[in-house]
Amino acid sequence: MSGGRVHPCQLRQRPTTSTRGTDSVSLVRFNIQNHPQQVAKRGAKDSVDERITPPAIFEPLRERFGFTIDVAASQSNAKCGTYFDRETDGLAQSWAAHAVWCNPPYSDIAPWVAKAWDEFEATRTIVMLLPANRTEQRWWQRMVEPYRDNGKGLTTEFLPGRINFGVPGNEEGKWHSSAPFGCVLVIWRRS
Ligand SMILES: C[S@@+](CC[C@H](N)C(=O)[O-])C[C@H]1O[C@@H](n2cnc3c(N)ncnc32)[C@H](O)[C@@H]1O
Repeated sequence: MSGGRVHPCQLRQRPTTSTRGTDSVSLVRFNIQNHPQQVAKRGAKDSVDERITPPAIFEPLRERFGFTIDVAASQSNAKCGTYFDRETDGLAQSWAAHAVWCNPPYSDIAPWVAKAWDEFEATRTIVMLLPANRTEQRWWQRMVEPYRDNGKGLTTEFLPGRINFGVPGNEEGKWHSSAPFGCVLVIWRRS
């Protein structure tokens, strides 16, 4: 990044996502799961971190970006033949030379955004699907907001409506209720 700005990797809080200060919001009346406040209280809910991007959302993106790797996946929900899962750990691997798809576990988003910045220069593109209702949080404010949509490689696309995420056994999200939040694509792309 140029223009005298500090690279986000120098600013970020390392993988422990803070749940205090700017990250705190009231959850009264909202049925949101795996928000940092809830995770801090009772741990991450696996069922939420395992939510699957439905084909209606993913396939047009696959066509547009030509993904070659899914860096946050399991054997049953991987969107690409090449993927990393919890065991191989997408955060510990190189994403170099790939067109990367990433729908990370929402219980701990910060390390995935930090990793994308680490990998940005070496990848073809990185597309991350994130909840759009956490833009007040530290990871967004420090690693996304100052750098997005200024012609220097990071763009955001706020998606219409709410995604009907799939769950194991209902991978296409045909009869699962929609997420109680909108989503945003965060796209790193070298010019
Ligand atoms: C929200 S789901 C995404 C599922 C699917 N790949 C998709 O894009 O729709 C996040 C996936 O990341 C996996 N995961 C969690 N920690 C991971 C890690 N450190 N490295 C790779 N995958 C991980 C979870 O097990 C889960 O399957």
